[in-house]
Amino acid sequence: VVKILVIGATGTIGQAVVNELAPRHEILHAGRSRAPLRVDITSEASLRELFGSVGKIDAIVCAAGNAHFGPLQTMTADQFKIGLDDKLLGQVQLALIGAEHLTDGGSITLTSGILSREPVKNGANASTVNAAIEGFVRAAAIELPRGIRINAVSPTVVVESLPIYGPYFRGFEAAPVQRVAYAYAKSVEGAQTGQVYCVG
Ligand SMILES: NC(=O)c1ccc[n+]([C@@H]2O[C@H](COP(=O)([O-])OP(=O)(O)OC[C@H]3O[C@@H](n4cnc5c(N)ncnc54)[C@H](OP(=O)(O)O)[C@@H]3O)[C@@H](O)[C@H]2O)c1
Repeated sequence: VVKILVIGATGTIGQAVVNELAPRHEILHAGRSRAPLRVDITSEASLRELFGSVGKIDAIVCAAGNAHFGPLQTMTADQFKIGLDDKLLGQVQLALIGAEHLTDGGSITLTSGILSREPVKNGANASTVNAAIEGFVRAAAIELPRGIRINAVSPTVVVESLPIYGPYFRGFEAAPVQRVAYAYAKSVEGAQTGQVYCVG
């Protein structure tokens, strides 16, 4: 049994990750507005407060992070910054601060997405951010101390999210969220580091 902090525990993917891991481990549920532990990954102060309150943990999973969707031709720098500040820097900051609070041999699992490798219309910000998260994970893996591992899960659109994201992903084969959850379990409970687990 290990102690796992799941950020985004109330979300579509986060809930499935919790359901997959909870039978075997102790889960700390965190999120921005609905989970028992409140955190905003875009705020360093909020992250430090969270980690100060939970003590040492063995694994961090992040299934949170927003990007901007919209047409390239009218995209502004401020819109582009939404993904940079939230999904990218939020998760990077989580990894940097979180690593200090992990036990030796602990793990960090971040979330990117299929747009890093397959672009869609309106997805320039998300494609950029997802590719950057994957680059960060590969690089951080070779520098993290004390045997700490880091991986990313890069899912296709999930079946349960098709009512929201379906129109962006015509022709993509959606993956049931349970299949995505297995990739998080592989990252947390396996032994690899610097990996990007593509689902779909
Ligand atoms: N769903 C898909 O098809 C899909 C496919 C590929 C990649 N992804 C990626 O997977 C991640 C999760 O997606 P999802 O569909 O499961 O999202 P979701 O259902 O909207 O859930 C998002 C979760 O993250 C939390 N959250 C949002 N912003 C936060 C912040 N700034 N700080 C801390 N927690 C925050 C939310 O907390 P509250 O509910 O309390 O606000 C919620 O628990 C996203 O990065 C998304 O881009 C999703």
